[in-house]
Amino acid sequence: EDGGDVAAPVVRSEVVAHRGYSAVAPENTLAAIDEAIRVGASGCEFDVYRCADGTVVLMHDKTVDRTTDGTGRVTELSLERLRQLDAGAWKAARFAGEKVPTLKEALGRLRGTGCQPVIEIKMEGISQQVIDDVRELDMVDQVAVIAFSPQVVREIRELEPQLACAWLYGKSVEGTPAQQADWLQTRAKQCNATILDLNYKLLSPELVAELKQRGLAVWTWTVNEAAVMGALRRWGVDSITTDRPNLLTAAVEP
Ligand code: G3P
Ligand code: CA
Repeated sequence: EDGGDVAAPVVRSEVVAHRGYSAVAPENTLAAIDEAIRVGASGCEFDVYRCADGTVVLMHDKTVDRTTDGTGRVTELSLERLRQLDAGAWKAARFAGEKVPTLKEALGRLRGTGCQPVIEIKMEGISQQVIDDVRELDMVDQVAVIAFSPQVVREIRELEPQLACAWLYGKSVEGTPAQQADWLQTRAKQCNATILDLNYKLLSPELVAELKQRGLAVWTWTVNEAAVMGALRRWGVDSITTDRPNLLTAAVEP
């Protein structure tokens, strides 16, 4: 059926909650994931490490110090110890008792909701294990993986080509938009990525157009102002990651 010129809400960009809906709930917890689902985010990003006994868990920093009541490197703490930590009270008293979730718990929470898990792998050497967890939940076709490490992206692309996988990049790139796009395309090819997930400060309408001409999807992070979101959408980015997914889902296209 031809929609003709009937005005319809145009959603040109996916909205991905950053570390869950982290503006209102403690980042990288099930509470933050639940809030992302509730507000209608199309995706939910979170960060993962492998803890001392081998379980993949949600944590942004190398240590648990900032976002829990404990101390130490997440890679050196057992799951049992991590589960004793309070990962919510630092944000607000009502979140006291929130735990550090495992990757499998986070995936289980998102399964069947229509909100896509976007797993940021924060360390090398755990690609296979992340894939195993995703496969165990039977979510290969629903999950995206992102990483700053080209090595991690290359591994994910090799081990499970069915998984959406983006290379993260946040530093400035020299040159004209065409030169920037050439450089980024070369780097993407080296790790076999077809999606670039770029700091929004790097982007211009010309660069987005050049990247899309080269067949690359453009995702961007972390955008918390409605006006900037509107501009990025007009430039044609495919996905916007934000601490405030409510702004984007409420935004009306001009
Ligand atoms: O979505 C990408 C973004 O999460 C990368 O930065 O430091 O928040 O993990 P960071
Ligand atoms: Ca992240």
